[in-house]
Amino acid sequence: MLKVNEVNHPLVAHYLTILRDKATGKAQFKSSLEKISYILAVDVFSKLNSEAKIVETPLMKAKGSKIKNKVVLLPILRAGLGMTAGFTELYPEIIVSHIGLYRDEENLRPVKYYFKFPQIKDKEHLKVIIVDPMVATGGSVIFTIEYLLSMGIKNISIVSLISAPEGINSIDKRFSAQEKENMSFYTCKIDDKLNNKGYILPGLGDAGDRMFGT
Ligand code: PRP
Ligand code: URA
Repeated sequence: MLKVNEVNHPLVAHYLTILRDKATGKAQFKSSLEKISYILAVDVFSKLNSEAKIVETPLMKAKGSKIKNKVVLLPILRAGLGMTAGFTELYPEIIVSHIGLYRDEENLRPVKYYFKFPQIKDKEHLKVIIVDPMVATGGSVIFTIEYLLSMGIKNISIVSLISAPEGINSIDKRFSAQEKENMSFYTCKIDDKLNNKGYILPGLGDAGDRMFGT
C-alpha cells in the first residue's frame, strides 16, 4: 500500500479553511498556501538522512550532523509553485526543478509542456519531493512519478494540500509494492470525491486559477 500521511495541525486546518473559502482573494490565497508549505516541509524533511560531522566550536570539537541526501524539489506547474517557499526557505540547499503539466479539459489526462531536471549521477542518496496542492484523478502525479522512475529515481515523496480518494487509489494501483517501498504521500486532507468534471469535492476550486488570478 502507498504510505499516506495526513498532516494534522491546527494551523494547517486554519489556513486550509481560508483556502477553501470562495471569498478569499488572490493575495490571501497565495500567502495561506505558502504558510502551510512550511509545516509540510518540516514534516517531510524530518525523514531526511543525516551523517555525522565534527565541527570546531570556538572552545572545542563538537559532534554534529549534516544532511546526507541530495534533495530535489519538483513543483508541478503552475499551482505547485505556491508550495515551494516552505521547502526552499527551510533548506536553501534544495535543488528546484520544474515540470509543466495541465489537464486536458475533455479527458482529464495530463499534457506535458515543460520538464527540466538536473543530471545527478548518485541516485542512491537522491530524494525528490513532488509538490502540487491538488491530487484529483492522480493523473498528473502518476505522470511525474513515471518520469522519475524511468530516470532511475526511487526515493520519491508526493506532497499535496487536498487529495481525492480516487487519486490516491489510482497512484496506489499504478505502482508495484517494490516501487512504493520508497514512496511517501503527504496530504493535509483527503476530501470526499471527484465531481463529473474531475474537481475535488468539497475542494477549493481551481488552485492555479485562484493563485494566479486567471
Ligand atoms: C491542477 C492541479 C494538479 C492537477 C490535478 O492543475 O494543480 O496539477 O490539476 O489533477 P489530476 O490529479 O486529475 O491530474 P491544472 O491542470 O489545473 O494546471 P494549472 O496548475 O496550471 O492550473
Ligand atoms: N485541479 C484543481 O485545481 N482543483 C481540483 O479540484 C481538481 C484539479
